[in-house]
Amino acid sequence: MQKLIVQGGTRLRGKVTISGSKNSSLPILAATLLTKDECIIRQVPDLSDTNYMLQILRELGAEVERASGTMHIKAEKIVSDTPYDLVRKMRASICVMGPLTGRLRKAVVSMPGGCVIGDRPVDLHLKGLEYLGAKVQMDGGNIHIEATEPLKGTTMNLTGKFGSTVLGTDNVLMAAVLTKGTTIIEGAAAEPEVEDLANFLIKMGAKIEGAGTTRIVVEGVEELHGAEHTVIPDRIEAGTFLVAGAICGDGVMVRRVDPAHLKTTTDTLLACGYDIAISGDTVTVMPGSGDPKGFHFTTRPYPGFPTDMQAQFCALACTLQGQLSTARETIFPQRFMHVPELKRMGASIEMEGDTARITGVPQLSGAPVMASDLRASAALVLAALNAKGTTEVHRLYHIDRGYEHLDEKLATLGAVLQRAKE
Ligand code: EPZ
Repeated sequence: MQKLIVQGGTRLRGKVTISGSKNSSLPILAATLLTKDECIIRQVPDLSDTNYMLQILRELGAEVERASGTMHIKAEKIVSDTPYDLVRKMRASICVMGPLTGRLRKAVVSMPGGCVIGDRPVDLHLKGLEYLGAKVQMDGGNIHIEATEPLKGTTMNLTGKFGSTVLGTDNVLMAAVLTKGTTIIEGAAAEPEVEDLANFLIKMGAKIEGAGTTRIVVEGVEELHGAEHTVIPDRIEAGTFLVAGAICGDGVMVRRVDPAHLKTTTDTLLACGYDIAISGDTVTVMPGSGDPKGFHFTTRPYPGFPTDMQAQFCALACTLQGQLSTARETIFPQRFMHVPELKRMGASIEMEGDTARITGVPQLSGAPVMASDLRASAALVLAALNAKGTTEVHRLYHIDRGYEHLDEKLATLGAVLQRAKE
């Protein structure tokens, strides 16, 4: 295992090019199972999560060739049983369930385990597939999906007690595109990554309207053909670098982004008192004229404040001396693994149920800390950049799951950090 040794106190400046979206790549790679033709997917980030997905596609029978970020995938003959040992390593592999059901009318996927950000149920995924007429059975930790009768389009609502489901919407969408009739998904996730998946499916010949809103209408077709697609930029990676630029930057620009996908991040930074400049596919954060102020946010499904940016903004709040900020987490109420680690660095944080109340301190201090979930780990690196002294962030594999070369990109901005064996 590896750790990251971070020297605090450096200032960041310069430009960083954002990679393709992890959370867009995973369902889009799964969607290539829907056709026997070759698909070409570009800007796929080189992450352990995307590499797991490629392994799963190969195990299912697809031919996969990669040339840096471009994937050539041809799923001519595929099987319906996913490999347990790979699925258990990455929860998002549940998104092969929809395309297998759509193409083969059959799928066997192991029940994804929970993870540090909380229980990760799939009841809404299964409800959606049952609405289409599939039979669902649990057996020995595996989900068995079978459509003994032809699937039929219908109207459904996929909202759960925590709001919409991103991968649940993806799964139902990928089954519905090959399901006879009209399927209407009410309470759909409106995330840009769902819209990106729909745009790829439309290029494959699917008939979809309303993706990117909470109501998606699908007209089923007989079959889909191959297509080429470039994945959208990763809005969470971009947001992470903008928060880094707020914490300890003198002008940090993220390039190759869609500014509209970053609105809650840039609005929050503006409200704090930072300067934001938007030009084409770039966004730049600079120190504002006065001292930054505390901020308050509640995570919500898109277009609300993204849960995947919560930890990073908590790290920023810790550095705003004397300022009170609050972070309320409504999507994954337990998603505060970063709090005890930030407190080890001297942060002042009180937890009240699903809300963190943070009072900025004059100076965080470096300490050995433990990475946990992907975004909490990034938050610890951001805090370490600002801390006095050296911080060791252990279990770096969490970061490598979802950030393409985070440490190298931070180093190009002036950060002093290095990987080492645990
Ligand atoms: C996606 O996960 C993202 N992952 C997550 O990003 C992100 O945090 C999450 O959406 C919310 O935006 C990928 O896209 C690969 P959900 P997903 O289904 O789809 C509950 C990251 O850091 N729920 O939208 O699995 C669930 O427990 C990762 O990149 C049910 O109750 O999340 C949660 O409370 C972390 N039943 C809420 O809904 C279900 O059947 C939202 O979950 C499904 C979900």
